[in-house]
Amino acid sequence: MNDQANRLRALSRNQPAPNTLFGSRVMAIASGKGGVGKTNVVAGLAMSLAQMGQRVVVLDADFGLANLDILLGMSPQWTLEHVLRGEKLLEEILLDGPFGIRIIPASSGIQELTRLDAAAELRLVQGLQRVSQGIDWLLIDTAAGIHDSVIKLLMAAQEVLLVTTPEPTALVDAYAMVKTVHLRDPHKPLWLLVNNAQNGEEAEETIEQLQAATRRFLSRDLQVLGMVPTDPFMLQAVRQQRCVADLYPQAPSAQAFLAAAQQLQQKIPLQKEGFAAFWKGLSVEEP
Ligand SMILES: Nc1ncnc2c1ncn2[C@@H]1O[C@H](COP(=O)(O)OP(=O)(O)O)[C@@H](O)[C@H]1O
Ligand SMILES: [Mg+2]
Repeated sequence: MNDQANRLRALSRNQPAPNTLFGSRVMAIASGKGGVGKTNVVAGLAMSLAQMGQRVVVLDADFGLANLDILLGMSPQWTLEHVLRGEKLLEEILLDGPFGIRIIPASSGIQELTRLDAAAELRLVQGLQRVSQGIDWLLIDTAAGIHDSVIKLLMAAQEVLLVTTPEPTALVDAYAMVKTVHLRDPHKPLWLLVNNAQNGEEAEETIEQLQAATRRFLSRDLQVLGMVPTDPFMLQAVRQQRCVADLYPQAPSAQAFLAAAQQLQQKIPLQKEGFAAFWKGLSVEEP
């Protein structure tokens, strides 16, 4: 414990300036179905925002299939698991990614973030609070599906980005996700990104189908962030454990991520104490 206190003191000497004055943005990236490209979208957006000069932290909250680090060619020695157990400080497990993005790696099969005991929660909250000082964006890669623990994370985030492919199964699961979030909070900002579309027409059709369902049954529209095409460069980048936005910035998918990141940057308001608000949302007991 004393050892931890010393390490904390040393860390606090080179803290960046707090960003509480202007605020930050917290976005959770979700999908109804697994394998739709969610983690690639998180990495692509993080990279593009960083290229635009934003300070980005990415939290891997997909404890079932934690693989953000693998996608970016990192092999962390320490993960959130060690933070929760009190063996490491959050700062000590942070990974430096391309363009200054920082990644909080998870390990598969650990306790859900929303079901921690008091000591573990305190370690995580305080760590995240320190780490999120002076950042512009916190992006959260969540597990697929509408499990309670995922929905809780989504409700706590300022904005939710839903990723789907044009596949009918993915679309049905995406609608289930929209419905679940909407029933909890009809005002939660919900963005839609269609990934892995063969062409613009297919993406448009997908968007229209989902919008038609949400309009008809939930009386709401989704905010359309756009589409990312099926891109062989993305596959090549994944094989090399690099982000496509980093390795092939001219590739169609990289360009799509950049356009999406620019839109997010323009349209999403800064939230004062963005991260603190996120955590308050997460800690509130459900009735
Ligand atoms: N736009 C795309 N073009 C080509 N391949 C893609 C695209 N999006 C996803 N993929 C493929 O799908 C795989 C799964 O993506 P991943 O981001 O891990 O999905 P998820 O996080 O939703 O499970 C990737 O490794 C990649 O091979
Ligand atoms: Mg994933």
